[in-house]
Amino acid sequence: MVRTLLPIALVVGVGFAPVCARAQSQLSLKSVSVDLPPGDDMFPNGPGADAINNNCLACHSADMVLNQPALSKAQWEVQVNLMRTAYKAPIDPKDAGAIVDYLVSIKGIK
Ligand code: HEC
Repeated sequence: MVRTLLPIALVVGVGFAPVCARAQSQLSLKSVSVDLPPGDDMFPNGPGADAINNNCLACHSADMVLNQPALSKAQWEVQVNLMRTAYKAPIDPKDAGAIVDYLVSIKGIK
């Protein structure tokens, strides 16, 4: 029995060896380096900057907010409320006023 199985095992083993070798060469990983454009990771300093940095960077970047069009105070209030109600942002209610004032100061309609 061993005498007949051994050649079969050898043939199967040798037969699969190239397949394994090919699979290995396809899986080779190489490192790449990618240059991403620089972004502001925090909101610029100013009154209320701490409040916005503490509450508004968990889900998106500061740039994401800074690149929005300028809005009125009422519109920024709607935006901050939207983050809380629609997206469940855990914004401290006592920080909301400071955040709105900060947004009006840097991205308010003049
Ligand atoms: C819980 C996660 C979360 C937090 C925290 C959060 N946001 Fe957002 N924000 C989102 C999501 C989700 C979107 C929608 C992204 C999209 O439209 O692709 C968004 C979009 C925005 C937009 C773009 C306008 C819009 O409605 O799409 C602004 C401006 C914004 N957020 C401001 C803020 C401010 C200011 C804070 C802090 C008070 C904040 N976000 C905190 C999740 C969050």
